[in-house]
Amino acid sequence: MPAIFATAPAKAILLGEHAVVYGQPAIAIPLPQLQTKVTILASPIAPSGTIQILSPAIGLDAQITDLAEEHPIKKALSLLANHFNLSNLPAMKVLIHSDIPVAAGLGSGASVSVALIRAVSSFIGHPLHDEQVSAIAFEVEKIHHSTPSGIDNTVITFGRSLLFEHGKAMQFIDLKEAFDLIIADSGEKSSTRETVEMVRHDFQNAPHLYQDYFDNIGILVKQALFALQIGSMNTLGSLLTENQLILNKMKLSTPKLDDLIGAAMQSGALGAKLTGGGGGGCIIALVDSINSSKVRDALTEAGALGVFSVTIKNQNGIN
Ligand code: PMV
Repeated sequence: MPAIFATAPAKAILLGEHAVVYGQPAIAIPLPQLQTKVTILASPIAPSGTIQILSPAIGLDAQITDLAEEHPIKKALSLLANHFNLSNLPAMKVLIHSDIPVAAGLGSGASVSVALIRAVSSFIGHPLHDEQVSAIAFEVEKIHHSTPSGIDNTVITFGRSLLFEHGKAMQFIDLKEAFDLIIADSGEKSSTRETVEMVRHDFQNAPHLYQDYFDNIGILVKQALFALQIGSMNTLGSLLTENQLILNKMKLSTPKLDDLIGAAMQSGALGAKLTGGGGGGCIIALVDSINSSKVRDALTEAGALGVFSVTIKNQNGIN
């Protein structure tokens, strides 16, 4: 039997992380430049349920039975078996390759879940629809932290820039024009579980203050949606920076992230902020064609571990 594979991209949150957990809207974009690829090979002579998982990048080579119940890969496979009413999935070898940095705020976990769910459901002859893929990936996300907003699995499954608000239909964003971001990895690991817990704790201690932060982020997100729809990149840049100021007050930034953001702004970025859970991970800087390479160089000089440029455009090919 030939190998079956599926892919899923990374993602970045443009604005609205954390506040989105508390019901505010947020804007997320897929990053198809970074991908997870999951390949399934049949193991025809092994008994059903014999599943070997190989992920060379994280040094994983294990039988499914050796993984803890709460391991996200095991969880995704058992949710799939339940979905299809199977007591065991067919015997297979699962190969996972990803170029998405782990714990960097770019959705590496959700990307593995989405590619895995797609590949395994195709392998057993019942490829799932995007809604089903996203719903199962959302259940897996709950392992990473108990109250995921659902933004990661949604943008990664649908692969389009979108406005996400919990409990509402997602809204794909029609970008007036393409724009360029530089993404720089601080090299500090970002634990979404820890930062989400910290925000929850601080929210409980200072509910009015934190509700204000969330509400103000929600306002910035709505303004940013409008800026994207009319192609006002200077406005979008200022909104990113304003969002960062609030994230900073919420203690989600770090000196290293602040250094990278400062370096990007001093070399002409239109705006910059952390992206994802924070407490480490990546920053995004909005640039134009004139300052793009200057910002890249400045981020490398400021000690970013990895720096790459992405052009965000409508995924329907209009621009
Ligand atoms: O760090 P990431 O890529 O998992 O992004 C987390 C985004 C949060 O808003 C902090 C959490 C969530 O569930 O939306």
